[in-house]
Amino acid sequence: MIIAGNFKTHHTRSSTLKFCNALDQRLVGKNDTQVRIFPTFASLPYDDFSHLKIGAQNAYCVKNGAFSGEVGLDQLLELKIKTLLLGHSERREIFGESEELVREKFEFFKNEGFELFFCIGENIQVRKSGKTKEFLLRELEGIDLDYARLIVAYEPIWAIGSGESASLEQIEEIHSFLQESGVKTSVYGGSVKPSNAKEIMSLASVDGVLVGGASLELESFCAIIGC
Ligand code: PGA
Repeated sequence: MIIAGNFKTHHTRSSTLKFCNALDQRLVGKNDTQVRIFPTFASLPYDDFSHLKIGAQNAYCVKNGAFSGEVGLDQLLELKIKTLLLGHSERREIFGESEELVREKFEFFKNEGFELFFCIGENIQVRKSGKTKEFLLRELEGIDLDYARLIVAYEPIWAIGSGESASLEQIEEIHSFLQESGVKTSVYGGSVKPSNAKEIMSLASVDGVLVGGASLELESFCAIIGC
């Protein structure tokens, strides 16, 4: 299983370090789970934990250069970070990242051999219109689904931070569809918490979960991981 925590704009540098050190200890002997933590840029520690990996929530598709406010390849590599979240709906919706830009980022970091969590997900209007599958396929257009280090994160926008995850039937339906469409590895995100994580991860087509709110507290995240 893959279990990832997306801290978004929560936690400071010191609380992130404290969290990751404590989690690393709790993960001793837990070899069946690949754990990832995505802190804010300002809190990124060296990726030198034994039982978890650190990823960045975003990056610009450039080695370095004149791109104020952005983080590029050189800065990530210095921290030994080779895991990235790409195209989170908050990046797309709040910061206006276009499908084209997200694709460009995918291509750039794929060529650098990064592990890429590529987020896709429909909003409530798309869900209600019955065009979810078409929408998701469009978000995956131009993405090399054979890239071995690609993890597609299906995160319906209406379920993110709402406290109500998609139903097990909805999750299974979409993840099976993604598999049929050529996706090799996929995780679900959207109001995953200790009370529903186990059954979501027990679905045959689901390879893990991407957790926002419920990853912020160590005990809650550990309850999801089982550590
Ligand atoms: P949530 O966020 O678990 O708080 O719904 C998930 C995400 O946005 O990755």
